[in-house]
Amino acid sequence: MGHYIPDHVLSNADLEKMVDTNDEWIRTRTGIRERRILKDPDKATAFMAVEAAREALQSANIEAADVDAIIVATVTPDYLFPATAALVQKRLGAENAFGFDLSAACSGFLYALSTGTMMVESGRYEKVLVIGADTMSSITDYTDRATCILFGDAAGAVLLEPTGDETGIIDFVNHTDGDLDCHLYQRAGGSLHPASEETVKNRDHCVYQDGRVVFKKATEGMADVSLEIMNKHNLNGDDVAWLVPHQANKRIIDATARRMGLSDEKVMINIDKYGNTTAATIPLCLYDWKDQLQYGDKLVLSAFGGGYTWGAVYMTWSLNR
Ligand code: UT7
Repeated sequence: MGHYIPDHVLSNADLEKMVDTNDEWIRTRTGIRERRILKDPDKATAFMAVEAAREALQSANIEAADVDAIIVATVTPDYLFPATAALVQKRLGAENAFGFDLSAACSGFLYALSTGTMMVESGRYEKVLVIGADTMSSITDYTDRATCILFGDAAGAVLLEPTGDETGIIDFVNHTDGDLDCHLYQRAGGSLHPASEETVKNRDHCVYQDGRVVFKKATEGMADVSLEIMNKHNLNGDDVAWLVPHQANKRIIDATARRMGLSDEKVMINIDKYGNTTAATIPLCLYDWKDQLQYGDKLVLSAFGGGYTWGAVYMTWSLNR
């Protein structure tokens, strides 16, 4: 595993000076204390993805030239095309890998992890880099107090390989429901509303979210999908060592853990330090907890995000034997 978090800290106190908000509101409604922002104008998602991937390869003792494929989950690619994965491939020196981006907002990492798992399981590929990376500050409206307090920038990467035993990624369930009014999206910049003076003036290139509607959907969806995969494998709260949840709001995570029958100490939470980093939240959690994870630990990873997209992965830990 590898990660990258930018040095610049944007605290709740800093946001108090920018919009009509306060530390107490942000902490109690979201659990966030601070988030990281990538300040260098010459750097973006591909930069963070490469840093995270380099660390992952180093920790696995693998040369970049041995990587077969690179999947970058992101909604903030450096360019609409070429894919961020292509930039990462070149900068890493992964000359034998092909790569592509995957767009599924906050569920992006889990969709990418499922995709990479199937590529390894098929026997066709042996080393697949799965990266979740987002520069959310590039699409955040820092005049909108309802959204600008939520997001941060970061990247996390994992290298998937065959485990050779019964541990590893055992199963996943993914869902999509696009047949809904859009309550979470970036209005402009795509082919329907390309950039124009009007779209820039209206800040339509920033995240739009109806927080209340999404909160309800996310609370139901993340708990439902976590229980779905637990029931499928006859797991109860005692069996699960860790919940690795997408970090959108601490209240959503707490509600999911309650419905799974998990006590607080089995839940990975780092939203206080990083905010919502979209595709990076889950690999950042795995990274932060890597020394506590034991071989054989049963993990449930789950996420909910724009689309709507949601999903869960059930795995047993293969490292730290
Ligand atoms: O990651 C992908 C999926 N995304 C999510 O899962 C996010 C889901 N949504 C949320 O996490 C929450 O809805 C938010 C954190 C965005 C908002 O929390 P909430 O408890 O749903 O608050 P609200 O939108 O119902 O607003 C409550 C009040 C409103 O004032 P009134 O109408 O009650 O007078 C807002 O105007 O809080 C006000 N408010 C704020 N006050 C201080 C909204 N934003 C702020 C703010 N500071 N930053």
